[in-house]
Amino acid sequence: TCKILVFFVNGKKIQDPDIDPEITLLYYLRNKLKLCGTKLGCGEGGCGACTVMISKYHPQEENIRHYSVNSCLTPVASVHGLAVTTVEGIRSTRNKLHVVQERIAKAHGSQCGFCTPGMVMSMYTLLRNNPIPSMAQLEEYLTGNLCRCTGYRPILDGFRGLTS
Ligand code: FES
Repeated sequence: TCKILVFFVNGKKIQDPDIDPEITLLYYLRNKLKLCGTKLGCGEGGCGACTVMISKYHPQEENIRHYSVNSCLTPVASVHGLAVTTVEGIRSTRNKLHVVQERIAKAHGSQCGFCTPGMVMSMYTLLRNNPIPSMAQLEEYLTGNLCRCTGYRPILDGFRGLTS
């Protein structure tokens, strides 16, 4: 049997023949791949600071669906064959912010910044699944992301312009 873990992170193929089945995707991203944009907040699925997007091809429907997940709860072994996108991977061109990042920044929706990558990844995932979401969908996608600095109004205001 094949014991090599194969998955994709921000479009790059990762092959790991020596995977510890007990470690989380968050640990792997931060410590093995040195992608530290994804944050460790609570470590138990409560705060959303560790949110990344996982993309999965569904052969029956012949489409790819995107999921925002708490990487602190995701065993790295469970992403075999899947594509992971982190906050480092969403810029379309070099040194340019993604529109989601630009909007949260301009609306003063980032203060200490710790929740920001998770907020951004939840919003990014929503837009990948639904390019013009409703405000209700936006609120639903952000329910797993906690912010202790700005509160939620500036964040929602920043993203509002991306809704229908
Ligand atoms: Fe808080 Fe993962 S670190 S939900």
